Amino acid sequence: MPRNFLDLADWTSVDLQGLLQLAQQLKCEWRDGGNRPLLAGQTLGMIFQKASLRTRVSFEVGMKHLGGHAIMLGADEVGLGQRESVADVARVLSGMVQGIMARVYAHSDVVELAHWASVPVINGLSDDRHPCQALSDMLTINEHFGRTDGLRLCYLGDGNNIAASLALACAHFGLHFTVSSPEGYALDEEVLAGAEKINARIDIGLQSDPALAVAGADILYTDTWVSMGQEAETEERRQVFRPWQLNAALLGKAPSQAVVMHDLPAYRGKEITDDVADGDRSLIFPQAANRLHAQKAILVELMGKRCGA
Ligand code: CP
Ligand code: NVA
Repeated sequence: MPRNFLDLADWTSVDLQGLLQLAQQLKCEWRDGGNRPLLAGQTLGMIFQKASLRTRVSFEVGMKHLGGHAIMLGADEVGLGQRESVADVARVLSGMVQGIMARVYAHSDVVELAHWASVPVINGLSDDRHPCQALSDMLTINEHFGRTDGLRLCYLGDGNNIAASLALACAHFGLHFTVSSPEGYALDEEVLAGAEKINARIDIGLQSDPALAVAGADILYTDTWVSMGQEAETEERRQVFRPWQLNAALLGKAPSQAVVMHDLPAYRGKEITDDVADGDRSLIFPQAANRLHAQKAILVELMGKRCGA
């Protein structure tokens, strides 16, 4: 059975910490002149049911840097589960590529792909999880603070895929996690219980008042109020989430060392203001760039060993 990267809950903390070290090594190696061709001759098939900039570019460029290449398979080409069943797509691709990365709506689709594929499957975002982003964010946090253990991350906004994977990443990497969301948009209790199960030593808390939530935080993290697939709820969500906007006033309530993170794309003037996104406490662009290095680590870990690399 190939190893997959679908949800951080499936991985041990030790293995994820190993992946982070590998990402750091690959980043240094690349800066020192280029990566070794650990994935020479290998192809990654990338299925996208939703739009992407960072995920698509980081995986495609990552494969290229490692000596392989990637094929983009857009929503209109594959028709995952519509033109062709998920099981058939998985089995066909397994005969032609050495890894599959999929960005889907239903999380069950990426799980089903992994069930039927005989090559590793990577979740490039589902409605419920975004593990590649959260692993990459741990790289950014570790680079900025020199550690992850004992830091305090406060997530502001929708209890969505980003919030869920961050909660699990915080547990694996020893960060205390506070989430602040409007009523009706809270992170699943099951996710919080899963995070507690991973690491009982960290504080995991819900704080409905954003001003109280940011007090004591080292990292303030936000995401869009309207995820892909929720466009019909845009106006309602913008009204409900307004008090959770990450702006100068809210940042002023956090400790002076606190940094700002956002997975992007950012809806400026909505969940985050320009002055905060572009301010000297923002990590958002180094954070985006680190997707490349974290994605390479996942690719090498899942695909590299298959050919004795
Ligand atoms: N953060 C992130 O996954 O960006 P894309 O949607 O552009 O891939
Ligand atoms: N929560 C957002 C993340 C985008 C990277 C979405 O699912 O659209």
